[in-house]
Amino acid sequence: MNKTILCIGAGYVGGPTMAIMADNCPDYKVIVVDKNEARIKAWQSDTLPIYEPGLDEVVKRARGRNLFFSTDIFGGIEEADIIFVSVNTPTKTFGAGAGKAADLQYWEKTARDIIEHSSGDKIVVEKSTLPVRTAAAMQRILQSNTKGLNFEVISNPEFMAEGTAVTDLQHPDRVLIGSMNTPGGQAALQRMLDIYLHWVPREKIKTTNIWSSELSKLVSNAMLAQRISSVNSISALCEKTDANILEVSAAMGLDSRIGSKFLRASIGFGGSCFKKDILNLVYLSEFYGLPEVAAYWEQVVLINDYQERRFVAKICNKMFNTIAGKKIAVFGFAFKADTGDTRESPAIYVCKMLLEERARLAIHDPKALENAMLDLTGETGDITYCADPYEAVKGAHCIAVLTDWKDFLKYDFRKIYELMEKPAFIFDGRNLLDHQAMFDIGFNVYPLGQPALSHLK
Ligand code: NAD
Ligand code: UGA
Repeated sequence: MNKTILCIGAGYVGGPTMAIMADNCPDYKVIVVDKNEARIKAWQSDTLPIYEPGLDEVVKRARGRNLFFSTDIFGGIEEADIIFVSVNTPTKTFGAGAGKAADLQYWEKTARDIIEHSSGDKIVVEKSTLPVRTAAAMQRILQSNTKGLNFEVISNPEFMAEGTAVTDLQHPDRVLIGSMNTPGGQAALQRMLDIYLHWVPREKIKTTNIWSSELSKLVSNAMLAQRISSVNSISALCEKTDANILEVSAAMGLDSRIGSKFLRASIGFGGSCFKKDILNLVYLSEFYGLPEVAAYWEQVVLINDYQERRFVAKICNKMFNTIAGKKIAVFGFAFKADTGDTRESPAIYVCKMLLEERARLAIHDPKALENAMLDLTGETGDITYCADPYEAVKGAHCIAVLTDWKDFLKYDFRKIYELMEKPAFIFDGRNLLDHQAMFDIGFNVYPLGQPALSHLK
């Protein structure tokens, strides 16, 4: 049996998933290819292209043994008979469905590469997040080959989160495998089970029909994001009523039917996927003639935008209705802690709105400063990027906490207070800091969804 696995796309998903697979399946050869030469070079080096706790060790163990990174896409297609496709599927920016539908051009290009460079039958695995029924289109394209080859399409969406990718992949809540109910589809499913059973207990592997698998991925992200928007909407109500969102979330979360996770109020969810996947769900609902369903899910994104705007409006309002010319120390730019990723980070939108109000920004982040610079390229205004938090706060009127980095908790806030203009403000968009301690130092503290602690009368 051919025991070579190929993954096309060496990004945030392709790299870590295949590293874990190779580490757990020493009897397989795993090749990860990408058209991006710089990315592949980085995967081959000591400085991996993405920051993920624990990933360096896994890659070091398997690389060169049974894990290989390469730009030879066509050679990889020829060699492997199981091909995971983990290319990006961003929101379409042009033509029909622009702003909502998934842009499937990278996905289709890989299908065509697979047809052209295959000389044997293959199993093609959808690892990317795709609209429901993509497998039908994929199967049609692949079966149009004139070489008499057979291709089986499997859906195996990925549920890992950034920052915890290694543990999520090593100990997944579930592995989902969707297949066609045909002899070929069932044989392909068995090949997938053979791989995952190397490290995932059978009861954690859920097998479904292929459409349920594709749709479950979109809906899982939509449900997670919906919890955040629900809690964020209530954070606004808390601020009007002196209720405390931490207490409300904790009280709700004690109901075992609701559960306590993913109820942290924030300036909004970010990351490369939540928004694009919900918009894709909205598009699909519209496409299938279900406008009420589309409107329901679209509201999750609209509340997210509202929460970002609300945060900026609060900063302006509490700082005497003007922030023009005032220096704001932005603590955190990554979309969440423990990653350098800033894709769709709420910090991008918050910073742009602050710049529109002509604030001066000093941005500090332990891992994401380079990406922050790229994201704000072309913005007019006074922006500095500070690796040193004490530099960022020098002469600042306020600190806006935009990412929940635990590192911030170790900073010397007495020293920070001394370095700042007075009155000094903290707007904690993540409810991260010890607000009473900050207030005692002298700060005017504005948490999210909690009563403010202000020295101002
Ligand atoms: P990414 O942009 O980090 O990586 C995609 C890679 O695919 C890029 O390096 C790109 O160069 C490469 N690529 C694109 N077209 C190619 C082609 N024709 N041939 C070879 N390489 C090609 O994206 P990602 O974050 O890894 O996400 C990939 C997919 O997984 C998306 O559908 C996403 O929705 C889904 N997903 C992402 C996450 C996450 O945490 N980032 C989690 C679960 C699922
Ligand atoms: C998310 C999902 O958690 C993964 O299961 C999924 O595989 C992945 O998307 C994907 O498909 O890309 P990720 O985006 O890496 O993973 O990170 P999350 O931990 O889900 O956080 C997303 C955003 O929500 C972050 O901005 C985070 O700060 C925010 N968040 C999260 C909150 O504001 N409140 C919470 O309670 C939880």
